[in-house]
Amino acid sequence: MEQVCYTVGGRTILTDFDLLLERGVNRTILGVSGSGKTTILKLLLGLIHPQSGRILINGMEITGRPEAEYREQRKKIAIVFQGGALFDSMTVGENVGYRLFEEGRLSEREIEEIVREKLRFVGVELALNLYPAELSGGMKKRVAIARALAADPEYIFFDEPTTGLDPIGVYNIVSLMRRLQEAGKTTLMVTHDLATAFATSQRFSLLHESRLAFDGDEEALKACPLPNVREFLQPTDASLFV
Ligand SMILES: Nc1ncnc2c1ncn2[C@@H]1O[C@H](COP(=O)(O)OP(=O)(O)OP(=O)(O)O)[C@@H](O)[C@H]1O
Ligand SMILES: [Mg+2]
Repeated sequence: MEQVCYTVGGRTILTDFDLLLERGVNRTILGVSGSGKTTILKLLLGLIHPQSGRILINGMEITGRPEAEYREQRKKIAIVFQGGALFDSMTVGENVGYRLFEEGRLSEREIEEIVREKLRFVGVELALNLYPAELSGGMKKRVAIARALAADPEYIFFDEPTTGLDPIGVYNIVSLMRRLQEAGKTTLMVTHDLATAFATSQRFSLLHESRLAFDGDEEALKACPLPNVREFLQPTDASLFV
């Protein structure tokens, strides 16, 4: 993303926002609730469009282009949506395999094999024939990850993958992300969960009041003297509790 500006409903969400995602360098975008983190992912996927600035995938500008022209580039990216966004009327297996079905390139047997493999990878193979309503929150997130993996992407975007999970659920997601990284995938996560960010990423962007308040590694983030950054890392306004 280069100098991206995005406004919706009269509200400025992003101002001159820059973001670089390099293969093999896992990044987390940090920001408080409502700051625009999900919006950034939607822009990167071409689901919404910026008022100005440029968005490029592998050097190809997608801003203002029909999706058909960058479909090959777009296919390298998968997203795990906030809350999972599973289809309630489909089983877990159908959720994970539906995109492959839609593409129509593989046989039913081949698709089932892939679906089982992805579910095994995330540790919920036994849920194959269950419906989303029958899953716990943590299982839903894992199924959503399996669905993202089905198309064998190079880049995986995670929208708050650990929000609302207990410590074991968080640990499971973190170790899954690490295994994906070891398998050669590059992750981009948006979250306000600092522990998960440090456990999975080497680069950090902080979004504050529509602008990029920080971009750098963990050491630089922790040492950054800017008040907006300090406030995010360790909220200190004790008066809130008086
Ligand atoms: N279509 C829309 N119309 C009006 N406002 C919108 C629209 N889409 C998003 N917004 C606003 O943009 C802001 C950023 O939303 P976004 O979902 O990107 O935040 P977020 O950082 O992902 O928040 P959270 O951590 O709660 O998921 C919010 O204040 C939201 O209300
Ligand atoms: Mg969000």
